Amino acid sequence: MVAVHDTLYRPAELPGFLAKAGAHILGLLTYRIETNACEIVSLDALQPRAGIGTALVEAAAGAARARLIKPSIPEVGDFGIPIHDELELERFL
Ligand SMILES: CC(C)(COP(=O)(O)OP(=O)(O)OC[C@H]1O[C@@H](n2cnc3c(N)ncnc32)[C@H](O)[C@@H]1OP(=O)(O)O)[C@@H](O)C(=O)NCCC(=O)NCCS
Repeated sequence: MVAVHDTLYRPAELPGFLAKAGAHILGLLTYRIETNACEIVSLDALQPRAGIGTALVEAAAGAARARLIKPSIPEVGDFGIPIHDELELERFL
């Protein structure tokens, strides 16, 4: 459980990003989207000062930007696969 302001959150139930090198976990960030903001609920880098924290924050910022622009993007897609990015496929005629 993580306390943010006056609310308790369970990070395991929130969307997030995992930093990995092969099977080795290097860090984890969890976040929640407010109406017009993204709040980082937890951030842990297991290897200090290697840029892992920065990379996780950048990943969350990218996801947040996409969802703030288009709130209809679901957190989880078909087959329970989390959606972190949106791809737009276009064919020029
Ligand atoms: C805080 C934490 C996530 C930073 O992750 P990290 O991967 O070490 O950070 P990065 O390597 O991406 O460094 C990001 C910046 O923070 C600075 N920084 C990192 N650790 C620092 C420390 N202990 N003291 C001062 N500056 C620090 C880096 O120098 C870098 O600065 P720069 O952008 O000016 O070069 C990590 O130390 C951590 O997991 N701490 C324990 C959990 C925690 O406190 N989480 C945050 C609250 S939820």
